Amino acid sequence: MQERLQELQTEVLQKIEQSENLKELNEVRVAYLGKKGPITEVLRGMGKLSAEERPKMGALVNEVREAISVKLEEKQKELEEAEVLEKLASETIDVTLPGRPVKAGSHHPLTKIIEEIEDLFIGMGYQVAEGPEVEKDYYNFEALNLPKGHPARDMQDSFYISEEILLRTHTSPVQARTMEKHQGKGPVKIICPGKVYRRDNDDATHSHQFMQIEGLVIDENIRMSDLKGTLEVFAKKIFGEDREIRLRPSFFPFTEPSVEMDISCKICGGKGCSVCKGTGWIEILGAGMVHPNVLEMAGFDSKKYTGFAFGMGPERIAMLKYGIDDIRHFYTNDVRFLTQFSRHEE
Ligand code: PHE
Repeated sequence: MQERLQELQTEVLQKIEQSENLKELNEVRVAYLGKKGPITEVLRGMGKLSAEERPKMGALVNEVREAISVKLEEKQKELEEAEVLEKLASETIDVTLPGRPVKAGSHHPLTKIIEEIEDLFIGMGYQVAEGPEVEKDYYNFEALNLPKGHPARDMQDSFYISEEILLRTHTSPVQARTMEKHQGKGPVKIICPGKVYRRDNDDATHSHQFMQIEGLVIDENIRMSDLKGTLEVFAKKIFGEDREIRLRPSFFPFTEPSVEMDISCKICGGKGCSVCKGTGWIEILGAGMVHPNVLEMAGFDSKKYTGFAFGMGPERIAMLKYGIDDIRHFYTNDVRFLTQFSRHEE
């Protein structure tokens, strides 16, 4: 019996040692120490022993059981630790892996060009002024020397909301409103960016809604040369120092004299190409000296004050600057178009 017990002990200890995981270890435990296991069987056989032998054997069985439990516990701890380590290893996060790129939006090309123009004029002492898009006929036309029935109203086909209210056809009403606020006192030095509306059929160069930036300067002794100098700085800063400008006579009811400004064509260097339609020049904006009637209607003394004004379309500026061939790109918001203007490309 004693021998059997010793045999069993060696066998169990070996099995325990060989267990590779907690499940196997538990199987060993159940197989050897369980009710149907060999140790219990040995215990059962004790009944047949003599009274002398019994306590000796009992002590021995206890010793063997004790040794087995100690070993079991040791192994259990060891396996548990190993399992934790294995789990940790399998769940390791590789922090050196590159992250997934987060898609970021970008400024709209029109916003960019408007901000660039604003910054340029702010740098020259201008303030940014805004006005309503739903405008009174008075500010959109009458205060700009375009009384009702004036033929030049036809130059700007309008969306009327009522007889006296319309969607503004240009940003010039902001001039009229700002002058009125100044109550006849200069200087006034503003630029007014904003949306305008005209009853045009949309195509590559027309949109029923587009943007304008208006400029207005009123003070004593403002001359045509001031206008020309300002426009020249603008053209060179936005399109490049190598650009030339030229002023052509034109007509606007709110300016006298009126001009249109062209810049030299960069693509052909002035020789003539399809972009400049063979002329070597590209039309950029309308401008002129503020008409005395406009000054007077807004409460300015036209003998004391003079001024100049200009109006441009940022879409056209952006199209020429970035080589965009269709104005509709600005309003269809195709991300393939928009992402080309993201900030980090600057
Ligand atoms: N308001 C004019 C237009 O929309 C542009 C302009 C502005 C011309 C200021 C002269 C002076 O056509």
